[in-house]
Amino acid sequence: MVVPAGPPGALRSGSSPGGGPQPGLATRPGPAPEHYFSPEPAIASEPALVELRLPDVELTLLADRGVFSSRRVDPGTLALLKESPAPPPEGNLLDLGCGYGPIACALAARAPAATVWAIEVNSRALQLTAANAKRLGLANVRPAAPEEVPEAVRFAAIWSNPPVRVGKSALHSLLATWLARLAGGASAWLVVNRHLGGDSLAQWLASEGWAVRRAASKSGYRVLEVTYGVPR
Ligand SMILES: C[S@@+](CC[C@H](N)C(=O)[O-])C[C@H]1O[C@@H](n2cnc3c(N)ncnc32)[C@H](O)[C@@H]1O
Repeated sequence: MVVPAGPPGALRSGSSPGGGPQPGLATRPGPAPEHYFSPEPAIASEPALVELRLPDVELTLLADRGVFSSRRVDPGTLALLKESPAPPPEGNLLDLGCGYGPIACALAARAPAATVWAIEVNSRALQLTAANAKRLGLANVRPAAPEEVPEAVRFAAIWSNPPVRVGKSALHSLLATWLARLAGGASAWLVVNRHLGGDSLAQWLASEGWAVRRAASKSGYRVLEVTYGVPR
């Protein structure tokens, strides 16, 4: 499936590298560095288009400074989307930490009858996800702040390139919160760079009682399947 880009207007194509192992820091004058998970990025906006090319889906997405991997689709994200299975065709799916929306939009294109919750704390990133879904005609994407997801919603599957830069404790808390909302028997698909703790994260998840399977190991990235249904 190829979803065409909307009119690019005055945007330039994003060709400079911006992905890699969670580079994350957007520089600006002043003492406090800005992270890709800043709620309100202060760095000046400079929108750019990035291409997401998968065997079954091609999308042109709008990205911007102050969000994760704004100049190219992150290689970990690509590995996750290439190495994980097709999403369940319906039900609620979750993209945990959606950034500008490459995972959410790919899932929505792959599963048009599903609802893809795309949650994010960076307001600029969340607005980009909403704009990308709209311009690509993906009405089944639901961009939301984490607290906006109704408590009763359970997920038929979760995908995430999680924010390891938030620190181990915050990352563990984030994953514990959202993995607990998997429906029975459902899986989460996570990608983590090996050098940023992919293997230790897998060990921690297993120690918490989750069934963890290394589904793929590609270019230094671990793609993990985490399954609900074992005693915790
Ligand atoms: C590694 S980036 C991945 C972004 C995007 N999914 C992609 O593949 O390009 C992780 C994202 O998680 C977001 N994030 C950080 N803390 C979060 C939280 N508590 N809830 C939801 N998202 C969060 C960050 O702002 C960041 O955009």
